[in-house]
Amino acid sequence: MTQPIPFKITPLTIDDLSAAAAIETAAYATHPPQRDYRRELNSHLAHYLALRVLFTTLYDSLSDASLAKLIGVAGFWLLADEIHVVTIAVEPHWKGLGLGEWLFIALLEAGQAAGGQIATLEVRPSNQPALSLYRKYGFEETGRRKAYYNDNEDALILTTPLLAAPAYQAFLAAQKTAVHLRLSKITLDDSSLPPI
Ligand SMILES: CC(C)(COP(=O)(O)OP(=O)(O)OC[C@H]1O[C@@H](n2cnc3c(N)ncnc32)[C@H](O)[C@@H]1OP(=O)(O)O)[C@@H](O)C(=O)NCCC(=O)NCCS
Repeated sequence: MTQPIPFKITPLTIDDLSAAAAIETAAYATHPPQRDYRRELNSHLAHYLALRVLFTTLYDSLSDASLAKLIGVAGFWLLADEIHVVTIAVEPHWKGLGLGEWLFIALLEAGQAAGGQIATLEVRPSNQPALSLYRKYGFEETGRRKAYYNDNEDALILTTPLLAAPAYQAFLAAQKTAVHLRLSKITLDDSSLPPI
């Protein structure tokens, strides 16, 4: 039996829009993206996930969203069979705990469930935390877009191998178990965590 964890990942809803934008602004230390979340949520190509921390010990039975706080957001567009990662962001107080990785696994799973065969994304060469996360999940550099960002920094284009490959699926399942175990050790009254 898996241990309960005080976090949940659900689809992002219209009620999350301002909180999601605030998380991106806080999470991206420089150059936060200007995203029109309302338009994104109305696009049939776009899929967004919400990471929430739960305010109760009844984690598994929790259904009331008002008892949960948004602390992360991730999204992708499904372009034919390609999962194009649009964003992943964790509220700064909650970084470094395994939550971004958990959210990223959920994004890859949701992308595959929607029909994606490979995943691709653009990332700043200077964004070491994100690059490290992506490389951990098998993304490799397949190109570079010159002066892609509005401050003229280039973008690296990273792409995965075929996600359905048995070796990749086994890797993903093992990582999911390991991350879940890591998250199960987080206690919300731990004084090292921010107040919720
Ligand atoms: C990228 C991001 C979502 C990671 O979230 P997180 O919850 O802090 O990450 P996790 O604790 O789950 O760490 C997962 C992996 O990410 C990488 N990582 C996370 N923080 C890192 C850091 N400070 N330095 C280097 N690598 C880091 C590591 O590979 C780590 O795996 P490890 O624990 O085995 O070393 C978070 O840093 C963020 O919100 N960044 C700002 C938004 C952003 O730049 N998004 C990507 C746009 S392309």
